[in-house]
Amino acid sequence: MDKYKISGGRRLEGCVRIQTAKNSVLPILAAAVLTDGAVTVLNVPDITDVRNMVKILCRLGCRAAYRGDDIVIDSSCADNCEIPRALAHELRSSVFLLGSVISRFHRARIAYPGGCDIGLRPVDLHLTGLKRLGVEITESNGYITCSCKKLVGNEIMLDCPSVGATENLMLAAVRAEGETVIKNAAREPEIEDLQNFLNSMGAKVCGAGSGTVRIEGVSRLGGSVYQPIADRIEAGTFLIAAAMCGGNIELEGINAENLSSLLHKLRENGCKLRIKNDKIYFRSDKRPVSVKSIETQPYPGFPTDLQAQMTALCCVSSGNSIVTENLFETRFKYVPELRRMGADITVVDRCAFVRGVEKLRGAVTVANDLRGGAALVIAALAAEGESEVLGISHIDRGYSRFEYKLASLGAAIERAGT
Ligand code: EPZ
Repeated sequence: MDKYKISGGRRLEGCVRIQTAKNSVLPILAAAVLTDGAVTVLNVPDITDVRNMVKILCRLGCRAAYRGDDIVIDSSCADNCEIPRALAHELRSSVFLLGSVISRFHRARIAYPGGCDIGLRPVDLHLTGLKRLGVEITESNGYITCSCKKLVGNEIMLDCPSVGATENLMLAAVRAEGETVIKNAAREPEIEDLQNFLNSMGAKVCGAGSGTVRIEGVSRLGGSVYQPIADRIEAGTFLIAAAMCGGNIELEGINAENLSSLLHKLRENGCKLRIKNDKIYFRSDKRPVSVKSIETQPYPGFPTDLQAQMTALCCVSSGNSIVTENLFETRFKYVPELRRMGADITVVDRCAFVRGVEKLRGAVTVANDLRGGAALVIAALAAEGESEVLGISHIDRGYSRFEYKLASLGAAIERAGT
C-alpha cells in the first residue's frame, strides 16, 4: 500500500503537459474489439484502469502490445465473450465491452460490474437500450448474459444522459442493421472523441455532443491510428491545486472549451486565466474568494469528477459555499478526511455546506476513491505542515505520474511505501 508524503504551503509554478483522457481511452479500447484491423491508440496514460482494460481485452483473446506510450490492439484472434467477476469488479468500465462484444460475437456474458465508492452505478439504461437493438438479456447470480441473432438499429431514448450507456449503445449500433438514434444522449467531449475514433475505423456516426447521436450501421470496420483528446479532469485538478496553493502555472495540450464550467468558477474565485490555442495560463496570488454554489450536472454543467477537488478549494476560500452532488449518491466520502485537516464542512444528503478557513493543517488521511483521493492530495499541498495520504492506489487508477507532475510545479511530494 503506497502513500504520499507531502510538505504543504508551497506555491505552484511551472508548466505541465496534460495526459490523454482516461475516459476517452477506456471506451476506445473497448471499441477495438469491433474490428479485425490493427488499432493503435497514441500516448495512452500509464494508469491502472487502462492496464486493467488491456488485461480484459487479452482475456477476450485480443493481442495487445505497448509501443512506448502507444498501445497496439489486434482483435483478429478474439474468441472469448465472457468477462469474469474478478476483472469486471476491478474495472467498472468493463461494462463498455458489452456493446462491442455483442456486436462482434452476438453474445456476451459479463459479471455485474456493481457499485463503487461513489454510488450504486446501475446499468439499467445500458440493458434497456441493448434490448431495443434486439438483444435478449438474462441476469442471474451476478452475471449479465446477452444474445441476439443480429443487432437491428432502433430509436433509443435514455432516461438520463448516461455517459457509459451512450458509449455502450454506440458500440453496439455501429455494425447493426440500419440506423440507430440515441436521444437524450450524454454530451461529454469523450462521447465526440469516441464518435471520431469509430468514424476513423469506417463507422458512420454523427451528432455526438448534441444530445442526439445517429449511427448508420456498416458491415465491417477497419483499423485505425488515433490520438484521443486530453484529460479535462486532470487539467482541472491541476488548476484547482494552483488556486488552493497560489501560483502561476501553464497547462499544455488541453482544449479549454472542454473545461469552461470550471474556468467560469475559478474566475469567480478571483483567479486570472488566459487561453491561447491548446494552453491555459493560470495565476492566483491571493486567497480565493468563495464561490457561493457549485452544482454538478451532466456536461456542459460542472463535472462531478471535479466536485471533490472544488470542495477542497471551497474549504480554504474566504466565505461560505454549498456544493451539491446531483449525479452520484455517495460522492462525499472524502469529507471526514478533509475535516481531519481542519476543514469546516457539513454534509446533508446531496449537499456539502462549507465555511472557508484561512488554512488547513497537515494530517494523515486515507483516499477511498479516485477523485476524492486527488482532492486530499491538493488539500495537503495547500495545508500548513506535513501530511500523508494513504490508499493512493485509487489515485493511480486515473492520474499518471501525478507526484512527478506536481513536484515539477514545485510541490514537496513523494511516494513512499507504508
Ligand atoms: C462516466 O461514468 C465516467 N467514467 C465517470 O468518471 C463520470 O463521473 C460519469 O461518467 C459522469 O460524468 C468513465 O467514463 C469511465 P453515468 P458512468 O452513466 O458512465 C446513472 C472518473 O472519476 N445511471 O453517466 O458510469 C448513474 O447512477 C469516473 O473518471 C443509471 O441510473 O456514469 C449516475 O447517477 C467516475 N443507470 C448517472 O446516471 C445506468 O444504466 C451518471 O452516470 C447508468 C447510469
